[in-house]
Amino acid sequence: MAEAAAATSAPTASLAPMVRLGTLPLRLLSLERGAALVYSEELVDAKVAQSTRSVDARLGTTDWRGPGGQIVFRTCEAERSRLVVQLGTADPEGALAAARQLFDPADPNRDGIVQLDVNMGCPTLRWCPKECSSAGGSGAALFADRERAERVVAALRAFLPAGVLLSCKIRLCVEGPEATLERCRGLIAAGAGALAIHARCATDRPNDAARWAELAPVIAGLAGQARLTVNGDALDAASAEELCRASGCASVLVARGALLSPSPFVPPGGRAPPTPRCDAACCVCPRCEAEVVAREGLCASTRRLCRRYAQLAMASENNPLNTGFVLLWLLHARLRERAAERPPPAGDPHGLAAAAAALRDATSLEDVVDAVGMGEEWRAAARGAPAIASHRYRADYFDDLAQRTDWAAALPRAAIAARRALARGGASCTNADIRTALLGAPAAGARRKKPEQDRCAELRERAAALGVFARVFVVEQRPPGERVLGYYAAAWRCRAVLGGKPHEGRFKKSVRHAQQDAAMVALEALQPSVAAVVPLAPSVTQDKVPEPTEAPSSKETRVEAEEEPPAKPVRRLMALVPRSVKVARVK
Ligand SMILES: Cc1cc2nc3c(=O)[nH]c(=O)nc-3n(C[C@H](O)[C@H](O)[C@H](O)COP(=O)(O)O)c2cc1C
Repeated sequence: MAEAAAATSAPTASLAPMVRLGTLPLRLLSLERGAALVYSEELVDAKVAQSTRSVDARLGTTDWRGPGGQIVFRTCEAERSRLVVQLGTADPEGALAAARQLFDPADPNRDGIVQLDVNMGCPTLRWCPKECSSAGGSGAALFADRERAERVVAALRAFLPAGVLLSCKIRLCVEGPEATLERCRGLIAAGAGALAIHARCATDRPNDAARWAELAPVIAGLAGQARLTVNGDALDAASAEELCRASGCASVLVARGALLSPSPFVPPGGRAPPTPRCDAACCVCPRCEAEVVAREGLCASTRRLCRRYAQLAMASENNPLNTGFVLLWLLHARLRERAAERPPPAGDPHGLAAAAAALRDATSLEDVVDAVGMGEEWRAAARGAPAIASHRYRADYFDDLAQRTDWAAALPRAAIAARRALARGGASCTNADIRTALLGAPAAGARRKKPEQDRCAELRERAAALGVFARVFVVEQRPPGERVLGYYAAAWRCRAVLGGKPHEGRFKKSVRHAQQDAAMVALEALQPSVAAVVPLAPSVTQDKVPEPTEAPSSKETRVEAEEEPPAKPVRRLMALVPRSVKVARVK
């Protein structure tokens, strides 16, 4: 039934909210590239509430400026009726104060904002090194507080003009699809007319594969009750279509794909909205972009995209620091795509690496114009723009991005697809597995790490066999000040939920170790259930395990009968001994 729903209407793809990236020029670029709707970056309610609206007749923009004159939000006629504004808010009062600045109830279409979205998905803004979202109780923290989330939605709905759609961008609940459904129904009953569901839990890390399979029951359960959109790992036309098929939803949000791939907003079978003009030199409409990629390759299309972005940024007088930042993101994304090609292309034929290096050193808009090769006309227009202040994000952010290959935002599309395929098959998907899937197994004789036993996979398997839901997630990260032993000190603690019951792990030095530990605790708690599956003989008491009469049929019974009983007392004893004391086994 879900698949039928997706098949009946042509899929649409929209630009997802992306902090720092989703300013006016990227939204305009995405509309030219075929996006159905464009989300603003998350706007913090207090900032919007303090801003003042004004119309800039020279530029043709409407601006909300903060007390110091800085732009909080800028829009223009070209995105009218396709603009969604996302709010970061933690309470009804803050949300209402911001909404009053954005909408005039007497003139709902004043600025062309068709939808107001409440961010209930961001766990922490890992995406950029800036504190916001859940820090103040917004984002995923708001979604976690059911009553407060519904009050925010009800207050906004009561205020907003009828023609403005109210939506929430959420993540899947860690407790499973039933819990997600229940929470969504609560939001809809409170007044949400649309929901965008990111197929990750708040506790998932960005490099975890999106949980497409968990979307289908949620989408099917909410059909007809609200406008639904799905999100997560839809990075290009093909994966967007796959996501639509897997979830049964005909509408997707594309975030990283907007920078990674050509024509990301036109799922096969979908139609690109008409573009305002088709100018051979810089047009980025889906048809022109596809032609350039086919004729000259991804790098050539990237140069074109950079130039068009810079033109739109200059025409709307975007903050030059932000312009340089978005261009760097785009270039880095495309360079990673290129590095993942097999065989890797030689040299820097279209100068993408050189352009990225020049952008990092740029101190003026003129430098930016030069870096992307825009010519004298644009250089003249750039003269007199405010200087680009030296900014820590320019250097540190991209160094960090380049080094953290486990970070989803730093992965090329091929790696994300490989990770998803591994997750779908139920296989482990560490970085080494992804590397093997992409590049093949390491050569014979190469040093290989001994494969570790994956307790999380074991827990999932055993829980599934018992018909209960299991998940492991991070619950706590020790602040750096408390990690007295420095980098190697235990910093992460995870929790395993098994059939709705939590099992706490201990602090471990890495997330992976912490996950394994929590899974181990839950596995130990699972023992009685396994005993129930393998019933004891009536004459045998609970604390005496019977000798198996024949070879154990499954790994579980073997583990319980042979390995666990002798190991348990030692492990319990070890837990009582301080780490500083050396323990030797007495034979
Ligand atoms: C740089 C960046 C910034 C983001 N900022 C926001 C944000 O402001 N609000 C939000 O709800 N989600 C934000 N997200 C999450 C995305 O909207 C999206 O849910 C996530 O990237 C998964 O989609 P994808 O696989 O298409 O990238 C951000 C993601 C990235 C990569």
